[in-house]
Amino acid sequence: MNTTQFIPKSALKSIEKATFTWQTPSNIALVKYWGKSNPQIPKNASISFTLNNCHTITTIEFEKKKASENVDFNLFFEGKQKDEFKPKIAEFFKRVANYCPYIFEYKMTINSENSFPHSSGIASSASGLSAIAMCLMSLENELSSGLSSEFINKKASFLARLGSGSASRSVEGPLVVWGNHPEIEGSSDLFGVKFPHKVHPVFENYQDAILLVDKGEKQVSSTVGHNLMTNHPYAENRFVQANNHLGKLSKILQNGDVKSFVNLVESEALTLHAMMMTSNPYFILMKPNTLEIINKIWSYRKENDSNICFTLDAGANVHVLYPFSEKEAVNQFIKSELSNYCQKKQYIYDSAGFGAKQL
Ligand code: PMV
Repeated sequence: MNTTQFIPKSALKSIEKATFTWQTPSNIALVKYWGKSNPQIPKNASISFTLNNCHTITTIEFEKKKASENVDFNLFFEGKQKDEFKPKIAEFFKRVANYCPYIFEYKMTINSENSFPHSSGIASSASGLSAIAMCLMSLENELSSGLSSEFINKKASFLARLGSGSASRSVEGPLVVWGNHPEIEGSSDLFGVKFPHKVHPVFENYQDAILLVDKGEKQVSSTVGHNLMTNHPYAENRFVQANNHLGKLSKILQNGDVKSFVNLVESEALTLHAMMMTSNPYFILMKPNTLEIINKIWSYRKENDSNICFTLDAGANVHVLYPFSEKEAVNQFIKSELSNYCQKKQYIYDSAGFGAKQL
């Protein structure tokens, strides 16, 4: 795999000080990534909707200093110094150092905030790491003699992936594929690419309401979960199934077959959790209210001839997906019924969005 394209070749300019701010989104996978090999290479291709409202805003101030062996940075989250978040970011810098050698020549002050509540069970690693990756690419763009926006997005996704696989899908939107797939032109294990085909209007501005069922700390980290796919009895079949699902979903997104979308997306969500339940050690991330909500969604769909469906991340929260045309009716259903199963009745209305924005 050609990773040398991401190592800066030409001599870089010298800049004393620079500050960049990026807003980058979270995403929700429709075909899930679960299982990887080193370094962050997915066992199957995945596709996600980029979100619009759930995002991270990160500012990095770069100040030139004498080059050192260690990366020098300070981290503030919502205005407060957060040393407990530093090891994860330090590990990220270590992984990208070969591709961003200039980070050793700057003192970095990172200020970050999320649009969604802290510890809401919404993973912030995708939006958080893609935001840092975009800030690094803004610096690299200034240090180099101009980079194309295509290269900036590609490399930002490549860098974000090294921090957290799903972060590679948080640079562009509204649909991003990560992982090499024969039916998706340009797809790669190294970075996410925009879904390359014209999408049927029914999937435009698709709605995603995130129901906050359990805001506690995850019992099992995604790193541990991915590793449990090694020697998992169903892993090989699962990877084949996921790639088949992506081929099918590609056609569905183009032809507008919403019924098949519902079937495939829910099957993906339950398969992800089935993999968790059938690994060893086994674990369950769903909560009783996750199942209550799923059953309510199924009843509503039947009674109203609706196209509402759900998907799940690696947690108990439920993502409710529905076409824009059903927004009013489903939002009412969420407010009056489903919110009763959420912690403190909390939920977030979101929809498919267009990716990273420089502020
Ligand atoms: O990016 P990671 O390592 O946190 O893994 C994310 C895995 C899932 O969210 C469960 C699925 C996905 O494709 O986003």
